[in-house]
Amino acid sequence: MSKLTHSPAWMALKKHKTIISKQSMRSMFNEDAQRFEKFSLQVENLLLDYSKNILDTETRALLTDLAHQANLGEWIERMFNGERINSTENRAVLHTALRAPAGSSVMLDGKDVMPGVMRVKEQMRRYSEEVRNGTVRGHTGKAFTDVVNIGVGGSSLGPYMACEALHPYGSEKLRAHFVSNIDAVDITERLNVVNAETTLFIVSSKTFTTQETITNAHAARAWVVEKLGESAVAKHFVALSTNLEATAKFGIHPDNVFEFWDWVGGRYSIWSAVGLPIALHIGMDNFEKMLAGAHAMDKHFRSAPFERNMPVIMALIDIWYTNFFDACSHAILPYDHCLRRFPAYLQQLTMESNGKSMDRDQHLVDYATNRVIWGEAGTNGQHSFYQLIHQGTRAVTADFLAPIMSHVPFGEHHVMLLANCFAQTEAMMLGKTPEEARTELLAQGLDEAAIAALLPYKTFPGNRPSNTLLFDKLDPYKLGMLIALYEHKVYVQSVVWNINAFDQWGVEYGKQLANRLIPELHSAKQISQHDGSTNALINHYLSRRRAQQNS
Ligand code: F6P
Repeated sequence: MSKLTHSPAWMALKKHKTIISKQSMRSMFNEDAQRFEKFSLQVENLLLDYSKNILDTETRALLTDLAHQANLGEWIERMFNGERINSTENRAVLHTALRAPAGSSVMLDGKDVMPGVMRVKEQMRRYSEEVRNGTVRGHTGKAFTDVVNIGVGGSSLGPYMACEALHPYGSEKLRAHFVSNIDAVDITERLNVVNAETTLFIVSSKTFTTQETITNAHAARAWVVEKLGESAVAKHFVALSTNLEATAKFGIHPDNVFEFWDWVGGRYSIWSAVGLPIALHIGMDNFEKMLAGAHAMDKHFRSAPFERNMPVIMALIDIWYTNFFDACSHAILPYDHCLRRFPAYLQQLTMESNGKSMDRDQHLVDYATNRVIWGEAGTNGQHSFYQLIHQGTRAVTADFLAPIMSHVPFGEHHVMLLANCFAQTEAMMLGKTPEEARTELLAQGLDEAAIAALLPYKTFPGNRPSNTLLFDKLDPYKLGMLIALYEHKVYVQSVVWNINAFDQWGVEYGKQLANRLIPELHSAKQISQHDGSTNALINHYLSRRRAQQNS
């Protein structure tokens, strides 16, 4: 058994769980009129209501003991101070420096990283303004109307999500597109709707070696060359990367390369040059507001006591269900259509970070780490998977996110949206007792036999936990706060679980095998070097393809 599962804080939580599980949240609310005040907190106008969770003040105290036991305070400082906490890649983790205000200094190995950060930000400002105002134009002298970001994972999910989320701030004159998949459908669908003369391609890749991105970038390059000639490439392609050698080899002019650094993890790179599509779409001033919102969350995370610290509280609640209630999935449910890609973004952020089973001391963990993260914008999800949330056999916990004000004050839509959001959290928590269900059915005029037949199905267990995050409006600043909130939540969990949140060797392995397989899919001979299933799949593919080609 690991030190963690033997530790005093862990054992105390285990014992406490057996006691608190005897109570329902419904009774906790009935017994304590101050429950919301006790279990909610606010950072600026971002409110977290975590009162609809199976916890009391003792739970919170025991959970914060767990955080103290893991030396969380020290780990937070180690990250902000540029220590090489990404141990398997021997890298610092300094995405927080990217959103530090002008005048700050952040030291890494005795050198201040901030002059480099400010230089690239200035380059982004100049370039995005010049593209937006038409000073920088395409090869034939026309202003750009479309920006196609070619990247995958962290080099796509963040900017894609943010461009959707901040669409109300976006320029109608400069549309943002995102191509990530190696499936040719993705790039060809985009190329079919844009005009080469007015399209700017951003090749976004930290390593500049990622198969999907480089293949799609070459396809886009060939398309531009075919339409406009080789000399157009310089004006129509920019790169965002840490690998300046590879961007030069691709043919991108050094002036059109926006650099970032190995201390920015892919899934934490939205704040870096990877944010260029966002700056182009909403303008650099708005992008800077996003950075400012994230920085406000950084300050809160670094200074607030754990029991009043939003990322810490959210992380500890997640640990509570993951490790003590055996919950295996967590839903992200934004009641804001603009945030519809937020669940996909958080899937990478959380599962690529904490989907690990080897701890920092090379021991296989004997406790659960990250749960499966999924979700969908409300109310669409309600008509899809909420049935399982309310009456399924496995507990699903959820974060509900909603703005007080809509960007589209249109009819009663927003009131109805929020009514649905609040109703779902209430229904999850309260459930419906057989008595309540019976009263309802009687009121509907059903007779005793009909009631008896329906009652078990009309009863809801309730006691299903959720957090609610409310904010005034989804603006760039608020989006920055929200993303940073989840980034820090992920970090806190990794510290308690004693895992490295910043490497991703599992993904590397899949990439490695795929590269090895490519030549085999061109083979004229039967394949036999794999396991039985993989051999059979490849050989089936080869023979069916041959048959199709010959028909
Ligand atoms: O999916 C694995 C991964 O390495 C991610 O961590 C990263 O965001 C993505 O690939 C893209 O990598 P790159 O930016 O180097 O192309």
